Amino acid sequence: MRTLPADVLCVAAFLSAIALVSAAEGDSLSVGQSIKHNESLVSGQGSFRLRFFTGRPNHTYLGIWYNRILSRKVVWVANRLRPLLESTGSLLLRQNRSLILADVAGTVYWLTDPEANLSNPVARLLEDGNLVVSGDDRGDYAWQSFTQPIDTLLPSMNIGLNRRTGENYNLTSWKANDDPSPRDFSWVLVVRGVP
Ligand SMILES: *[C@@H]1O[C@H](CO)[C@@H](O)[C@H](O)[C@H]1NC(C)=O
Ligand SMILES: *[C@@H]1O[C@H](CO)[C@@H](O)[C@H](O)[C@H]1NC(C)=O
Ligand SMILES: *[C@@H]1O[C@H](CO)[C@@H](O)[C@H](O)[C@H]1NC(C)=O
Ligand SMILES: *[C@@H]1O[C@H](CO)[C@@H](O)[C@H](O)[C@H]1NC(C)=O
Ligand SMILES: *[C@@H]1O[C@H](CO)[C@@H](O)[C@H](O)[C@H]1NC(C)=O
Repeated sequence: MRTLPADVLCVAAFLSAIALVSAAEGDSLSVGQSIKHNESLVSGQGSFRLRFFTGRPNHTYLGIWYNRILSRKVVWVANRLRPLLESTGSLLLRQNRSLILADVAGTVYWLTDPEANLSNPVARLLEDGNLVVSGDDRGDYAWQSFTQPIDTLLPSMNIGLNRRTGENYNLTSWKANDDPSPRDFSWVLVVRGVP
């Protein structure tokens, strides 16, 4: 058997590295694009990553993580109450501005209910850890994860009342280290700065 010349292998490795970066390492999703269980979005300067993670067996969630810290640092969870089976999830942006987390059979586990009417919606993971859906004018967000905090306040989140919707920010701790569902009767406020 002939072995391939080293320069061919180098080019192949280079091309596959580019393909990986464009498919899995961008910061945004356009309409019709999705990320699958083994793909992720990384914010522009690399501070945060949106990716799937599994707590207990077959309890898989989509979350936003600090990207540069090795200890557990999940700052936000989408499907906190409805875990997916392992390796089945994908996050998709629809033309109607909804971000939809579904499994391979099309069952929806979580979706956003966007407020603004946008042309050419794009979902983007921002450098401050906010996952947003905005239009091509980058004006108002149709939806943003900062309005649905879990147990972590990031530096650019507003504490307390949302002036526009009148909603109060609620922070509820995880039930256990491997279970992000809310612990009953426990309201905590954990303020963490960006390291
Ligand atoms: C993700 O997993 C699928 C199979 O589940 C595989 O075909 C694909 O190559 C994987 N992608 C990456 C970026 O690892
Ligand atoms: C997850 O669930 C699937 C389908 O029910 C099952 O086949 C698989 O063995 C389970 N995996 C684990 C780790 O429990
Ligand atoms: C977008 O479409 C999905 C189904 O395709 C639906 O579940 C969702 O509610 C829609 N969102 C809006 C904002 O209309
Ligand atoms: C959004 O904009 C489209 C096209 O401009 C229009 O047809 C639709 O009715 C608008 N929807 C809402 C909820 O304003
Ligand atoms: C949690 O949020 C709800 C709805 O915004 C509010 O009614 C409730 O008072 C909040 N709970 C706490 C403990 O802040």
